[in-house]
Amino acid sequence: QWTTTTLHNGVEMPTLGLGVWKMENNDEVKTAVQAAIDAGYKAIDTAAAYKNEEGVGAAIKDSSTPREDLFITSKVWNDDQGYESTLKAFEDTVTKLGVDTLDLYLIHWPVEGKYKETWKAMEKLYKDGRIRAIGVSNFHPAHLEDLMKDAEIKPMVNQVEFHPLLNQQELRDYCNQHSIQMEAWSPLAQGKLLDNDVVKQIADQHGKSTAQVIIRWDLEHEVVTIPKSSNPERIKQNFDVFDFELTKDNIRAIDELNQNERMGPDPDHFDF
Ligand code: A2P
Repeated sequence: QWTTTTLHNGVEMPTLGLGVWKMENNDEVKTAVQAAIDAGYKAIDTAAAYKNEEGVGAAIKDSSTPREDLFITSKVWNDDQGYESTLKAFEDTVTKLGVDTLDLYLIHWPVEGKYKETWKAMEKLYKDGRIRAIGVSNFHPAHLEDLMKDAEIKPMVNQVEFHPLLNQQELRDYCNQHSIQMEAWSPLAQGKLLDNDVVKQIADQHGKSTAQVIIRWDLEHEVVTIPKSSNPERIKQNFDVFDFELTKDNIRAIDELNQNERMGPDPDHFDF
């Protein structure tokens, strides 16, 4: 049975969802989201920048799962940061998704000089009941400290690149101390770890795939995870991870794969 985590405002967030980054075609994303919902996924993670919110919306509309049982996340893009422009970007996002409210809305990147105004708009939307939880993405402790100095509401989630090659120990400790839920993007290191010998051996031990082992490792670390797949079989496989647990030795062996190696941009050196 799938699980949820309780955010610091009491909202229950599914621990495993479908990531739809890099699905650029609305038909592709619609098929993937339908396959995910059929497989039992409740959470879908999109963003304005992915340009596929309409495809996600089409799948939500066709699905027999009631809207209130789903957990839909989107993100405000860098160009739209600022108070008024965030309010406008939010309306555009919910229109494309065909929903009235979002479950989670994130600031996609910490654009210097902009993210505090953006946060004020997120707080307003939250207080108006348009979003059930608000958070950030790609924020480091310095960004979070700066944001929280003036914030009325503390972010509930920080979604960052996280996988065994970049296990984010310090950031995880920081977020845990502040009751900010960590969420992983590119949890499978964009496919790079699926042939890794250490992971393969653990997969054989449990009769699971390497992808399933890595997803399970996220859950053992209490990091919400959103593996991307466009393939219905793999989408199903990635959700079939609630019937086994990794041993302490398994977890340690995967922890030791850390190389502080990023697949995506470093938030401290991102060219906005
Ligand atoms: P595909 O979409 O063809 O399934 P990440 O979530 O780290 O960005 O990784 C996504 C990549 O991993 C995609 O290339 C995806 O390809 C691939 N992938 C996702 N799930 C699996 C799986 N269970 N087995 C093999 N490859 C997978």
